[in-house]
Amino acid sequence: LAKVPVAAAVAFVLGAVNPATILAKILGKDLRTSGSGNPGATNAGRVLGARWGVVVGVLDVLKGLLPVLLAAHFLGSITALVVGLAVVLGHIWSPFLKGQGGKGVATSLGAILAVEPWFALVMVLVFVVLVWRLRWVAGASVSACLLLLALGVVSWLEWVPFGSRDTGAWCVVLALLVIYRHRRNIELWVSARRDASSTP
Ligand code: G3P
Repeated sequence: LAKVPVAAAVAFVLGAVNPATILAKILGKDLRTSGSGNPGATNAGRVLGARWGVVVGVLDVLKGLLPVLLAAHFLGSITALVVGLAVVLGHIWSPFLKGQGGKGVATSLGAILAVEPWFALVMVLVFVVLVWRLRWVAGASVSACLLLLALGVVSWLEWVPFGSRDTGAWCVVLALLVIYRHRRNIELWVSARRDASSTP
């Protein structure tokens, strides 16, 4: 039984290792004080260049994907869900970054890819279309998470022939976590809309 907390602790520490911060440091930059200040793929792309943004995105997805796949294979499906949640929590509230980790988009996408690949695929599709149409990554991320939230709820309620109660509830938690981490982006969007509508 001790395997669950041990796996969760290992996953949390792994999640706390932040590729964006490490790469930025190697390249002599500080993501905390540049761009949006977020140590994630989008800000790495902004500050270090698009290529590095892609590298960070891929590493963050793998950080979510691989531990969950390994846990599912060796420790069972419920432990895999715990590991997925732990890795995302580690990424978001990284103790190595004094609790100021990333927003968890790519890392949770990796974890979801391991557990519910179709959900991940639909999310990526929505994300890509919205980034292309809106040119706004945070908006596309929040929208993809709202979709995940809906997919999670209908799976949890067993209204659909896919997903399960467990993975549905897990998706709901992940979606809420990532949306919560975008609250600053949402606030900025709301105040920009307010300013736009009050301008004569
Ligand atoms: O990578 C997270 C993304 O959704 C938003 O990032 O830097 O624009 O706040 P950022």
